[in-house]
Amino acid sequence: MNRGRRLRQNENIRNMVSETKVNKKSLIYPLFIQEGNGIKEEIKSMPNQFRYSIDKLNFEIENLLKKGINNIILFGIPDKKDCMGTGAYIEDGIIQKALKEIKKNFKEITCIADVCMCEYTNHGHCGILDENNIVDNDKTIKVLSKIATSYVESGADIIAPSDMMDGRIREIRSALDKKGFVNTPIISYAVKYSSAFYGPFREAADSAPSFGDRKTYQMDYRNRKEALKEALYDIEECADIIMVKPALSYLDIIRDIKNNINLPVCAYSVSGEYSMIKIAGANGIIDEDKIIIETTTSMYRAGTDILITYFAKEIAKFIDEGKM
Ligand code: PBG
Repeated sequence: MNRGRRLRQNENIRNMVSETKVNKKSLIYPLFIQEGNGIKEEIKSMPNQFRYSIDKLNFEIENLLKKGINNIILFGIPDKKDCMGTGAYIEDGIIQKALKEIKKNFKEITCIADVCMCEYTNHGHCGILDENNIVDNDKTIKVLSKIATSYVESGADIIAPSDMMDGRIREIRSALDKKGFVNTPIISYAVKYSSAFYGPFREAADSAPSFGDRKTYQMDYRNRKEALKEALYDIEECADIIMVKPALSYLDIIRDIKNNINLPVCAYSVSGEYSMIKIAGANGIIDEDKIIIETTTSMYRAGTDILITYFAKEIAKFIDEGKM
């Protein structure tokens, strides 16, 4: 007896009834920006991803817009680092300069600024250390709100704190409101697991901790209920969008969050997910295109509304070609 199979008999019907549809407008593409001139340097651990100097951004952003992608998230690689992460909030910091330049040249692009200290501290941790080399939560959130304010003053459309300190959403919200930026949304990296999938990013952003790890502030991947707890705290503190990170190994968490909150859910498909597919694809071990389509679709099926992905350009092309 045919039942379910009736709706699978040809591609048009399969497309018509598919439960998951991926929309280009929900994609966010990450960009790494460094000091200097004329630089477009491939990141060894992430084939076909680059670090750009500011003067090389125009070409890349035009290219993204042409493909129908109009959201970017920016990561800065400063020239100098210190123990206080000063480079993150100075007026001529790398992200501040990049934001001004991008906003001057492009009206259509939405710039999301990742707020964290690990790229700017010489010890590579996401905050200020106390005398025992432990991240001091309450001192750190004061600095984070300074960084966030400075990014918005430079033109950021959305702020995305990725540091995992407690109480940072409330602190940043109130700092932005005081300056009159009452309409600037915050995407909270609320559910961020301590993960080996960030490995290639740490090479890209030069942000690996010089000692220890991030387990005291990022989440333990054995925990599921805790994800909702983190999300609910941040919602109470006025987050506008809740993020789950990484994505691929955390589809159950994305679904839990989706089912239990009423804000948009963002997932971050991180560097390790990208590089595994890219490198296996380049070696002919998997069909890269099909794996990108399948894994991306699974993230949306799990409940993602918004996806940060290094594959944004490929996905846009597959959508244009009717492949997803
Ligand atoms: C922290 C930050 C990290 C990533 C995004 N923001 C690294 C970390 O927590 O160690 C990882 C993104 C990726 O792996 O693609 N600033």
